[in-house]
Amino acid sequence: MNIYNSKQYKILDVIKQTGDNTLLRIKCDLNPMPGQFVNVSIPGIGEAPISSASYNDKLLDLNVRIVGNVTKAMTQLKKGDEIGLRGPYGNGFPMKELKGKDLVLVGGGCGVAPLRGIIEYVDLHWKDYKDVYMFFGYRTPGDILFKDEISGWNDKYKVFLSVDQEVGANPFNCPVGFVTDNLKENKVPSNAVALMCGPPIMMTKTTEILKEKGLTEKQLYVSLERHMKCCTGKCGHCMVHGQYVCLDGPVFTYDEVKNLDE
Ligand SMILES: Cc1cc2nc3c(=O)[nH]c(=O)nc-3n(C[C@H](O)[C@H](O)[C@H](O)COP(=O)(O)OP(=O)(O)OC[C@H]3O[C@@H](n4cnc5c(N)ncnc54)[C@H](O)[C@@H]3O)c2cc1C
Ligand code: FES
Repeated sequence: MNIYNSKQYKILDVIKQTGDNTLLRIKCDLNPMPGQFVNVSIPGIGEAPISSASYNDKLLDLNVRIVGNVTKAMTQLKKGDEIGLRGPYGNGFPMKELKGKDLVLVGGGCGVAPLRGIIEYVDLHWKDYKDVYMFFGYRTPGDILFKDEISGWNDKYKVFLSVDQEVGANPFNCPVGFVTDNLKENKVPSNAVALMCGPPIMMTKTTEILKEKGLTEKQLYVSLERHMKCCTGKCGHCMVHGQYVCLDGPVFTYDEVKNLDE
């Protein structure tokens, strides 16, 4: 069997999240761990790695932000269409090692999607973890992802949303400022672990703030994005400092990647 062949899966739903983010719900038993990803193929157009935004053995949610041809074609798929997937790939967040800890999730924009996999995992394994803090930042209230789930998250977890600019209605009364401002102003336990996904500048500033709050670099996990082709550690496209982001990552502790130029 060719490991680069993808298998076809049925799309159960296509849910528009925001102007440029669409969630594809796929009937799928691949069940990636939080932080793992699949490689999506669109015949005649190409392939793109997309993170799992869920933790479920019957469904897979992919949150797609349109940046180019593959992601645009993905968002044009309809309920009932099929989509080619291979994977899951990558290490994911080390959920089993983190048992017994407080978790601080920090996400920016579509970087929140892979963190939703952690939330769904903790929903099922809540006895294994202490408190979950969520610091999610978006450009405007209209860019907030998973709006229908926020009140349910509020019931169980400590949710801190923020928006860079207050444009239009602000139904969640989010403070205006960067996600890092919100993090700075709120307490998190110094023995927590932080799991982050978002723009590199957000992750750099987040690590500075969390270090000021007493967390060490080994308590900080970041999810990296690189251009990928094979996703199996063969082509070298994704390599940084001798490590394959597709195989050794995409999740690294901050002390493993702190010297990257970004
Ligand atoms: C592990 C991993 C998980 C990902 N998860 C998601 C996800 O959940 N949802 C999602 O929408 N996207 C995700 N991405 C990003 C997505 O795979 C890329 O944006 C992909 O290239 C889109 O393909 P395209 O053909 O639509 O655009 P392309 O034609 O490939 O890219 C369009 C533009 O974006 C730039 N670009 C593309 N990828 C990157 C990158 N990795 N770093 C910097 N610039 C880039 C290109 O240079 C180009 O200018 C993930 C990427 C990785 C590596
Ligand atoms: S994408 Fe080919 S080695 Fe990582």
